Amino acid sequence: MHLTLRQLSIFDAVARHLSYTRAAEELHLSQPAVSMQLKQLEHNVGLPLLEQIGKRTYLTEAGREMYHYSRVISQQLAEAEAVLAELKGMSRGRLEIAVASTANYFATRLLATFSREHSGAQISLDVTNREGLLARLDANEIDLVIMGRPPTQPDLVAEAFMDNPLVVIAAPGHPLTRPGPVPIQDLQHETFMVRERGSGTRTAMERFFDEQGIRLTTGMEMSSNEAIKQAVQAGLGLGLVSAHTLELELASARLVVLDVDGLPIRRHWYIVHRRGKRLSPMATSFRAFVLQDARAMLELPSGAARSTMLR
Ligand code: PGA
Repeated sequence: MHLTLRQLSIFDAVARHLSYTRAAEELHLSQPAVSMQLKQLEHNVGLPLLEQIGKRTYLTEAGREMYHYSRVISQQLAEAEAVLAELKGMSRGRLEIAVASTANYFATRLLATFSREHSGAQISLDVTNREGLLARLDANEIDLVIMGRPPTQPDLVAEAFMDNPLVVIAAPGHPLTRPGPVPIQDLQHETFMVRERGSGTRTAMERFFDEQGIRLTTGMEMSSNEAIKQAVQAGLGLGLVSAHTLELELASARLVVLDVDGLPIRRHWYIVHRRGKRLSPMATSFRAFVLQDARAMLELPSGAARSTMLR
């Protein structure tokens, strides 16, 4: 049997509408063009597929059989088209991401692995505070955001993908590094280095100690985790940071995670996008990658994991 895909799709439209006129409209063809293609198809098949009785068009028995196959073939073609369009998009897509400053400790590692698997991805990464992240989502100028406190706006979708334990850090040799858990009340006698207002870490810290009825003495306010860690190493006081920021300092024993009763503060990392946004194939694939693989890829540093897992 010799037939073309064009003849098949014209037949499919006529059989669906049981009307030459409506099929011609749908396909943006003239009615004589439709009739001619169908005559040719019937000639190639060797059987009549349609019959005209009065003003109405009917499928013959052969037409009904043919319609069954033309449906299956049309659906398969549409599916192939969608898959190919997706592949085309995926091989050369832009990916615009913004992350909270603490998330930057692992975001670059995620992006490195992702971009090895998607060599055509053009990635832009913006590191900013929570307010900045929400503004960029609001302006619809970003695909995906990674943040530590889920937004409350109903037009945003936040999906948790990994734990984000916040731990208390001290310089090695600090009196509270003694063996055995530190009662949380003992922290009241210490000075804490704190992150800037607007930092998710700072908000979580304030809420947690308020709930525990603990009044902390705060020392210097600093706008980065790096500054907090340096100050704690220098013996200016204690700090509270995400365990994800501590890989190098714990490996080189420059900082210690204190084993405090009731800690770590348990939080999560969220990947966020606007509800209803049509994510590009590249963004869809990055979101799936983060949800599936991030947790296994990004182990917590061992010194932090010990204290976060024990409780
Ligand atoms: P941040 O981290 O403290 O760097 O803003 C985000 C968060 O933990 O919410």
